[in-house]
Amino acid sequence: MTESFYTVPGAPHLTLLSDLHNRDYRPAVKSLQKREPALICITGDLIYGGIPEDDESPLHTQPNALALLRACATIAPTYVSLGNHEWMLDEEDLREMASTGATVLDNAWVEHDGLAIGGLTSGHVMRHRRRLSNLTDEERNSRRYPNEERIADIFKSPAEMLLERVPDDDWLMSFAAAPGYHILLSHHPEYRHLVPKEVELMLSGHAHGGQWRIFGHGVFAPGQGIWPKLTKGVYDDRLVVSAGLSNTAPVPRFFNPTEVVYIRG
Ligand SMILES: [Fe+2]
Repeated sequence: MTESFYTVPGAPHLTLLSDLHNRDYRPAVKSLQKREPALICITGDLIYGGIPEDDESPLHTQPNALALLRACATIAPTYVSLGNHEWMLDEEDLREMASTGATVLDNAWVEHDGLAIGGLTSGHVMRHRRRLSNLTDEERNSRRYPNEERIADIFKSPAEMLLERVPDDDWLMSFAAAPGYHILLSHHPEYRHLVPKEVELMLSGHAHGGQWRIFGHGVFAPGQGIWPKLTKGVYDDRLVVSAGLSNTAPVPRFFNPTEVVYIRG
């Protein structure tokens, strides 16, 4: 794991964590304890979003997610948004995440010390919620978690993915109109076009650095396809993308270490 340090004009001293996917959280926490950021922003995919076994909460079968949140909340104010792998989490799960001391931003924003901090929930989560709303009461009550959802269609084209998995961006205008410096946590960097220009800083993950990096350029990212544009680093002084804290693909990463990102103004 590496530490990456970026400058974004006007930004507070903060860290960006993403894509833990239930891997060992301790190296990241060690880094945070040393660097002491004023704010910790986590852009989702804390867990690996397969189908919940035995209808048990993934937060219980994958304990590193809550452990990371708990550890972060003791270091600095911690904000977390939801990624595609969190598609199945229900209200009880979100309450459990909040009980760690972290603030869960599920298509919501809060004020914090002159900042407005929002969390744009993954369209994968919204797709699942829309699907749940179409079930009968009997179907909904038969299991806590569904057993047919698949996330394995990451090789669909970006256009197909976007059509099926639409995020809820209705609240972004009121968020952007709030006073203060705006930070938007959005797991997906490819949602950049949805973000109002008043939002000074967007934080993202999901692309895992493009899995392999050739001459500093990622090769593939879900939602962006081959030769993705937004995989790691600072874009237009406004979007910062983390390469993430873990590898989940069945192939190794090349020239693409996992990372904790630090940002300063
Ligand atoms: Fe993701």
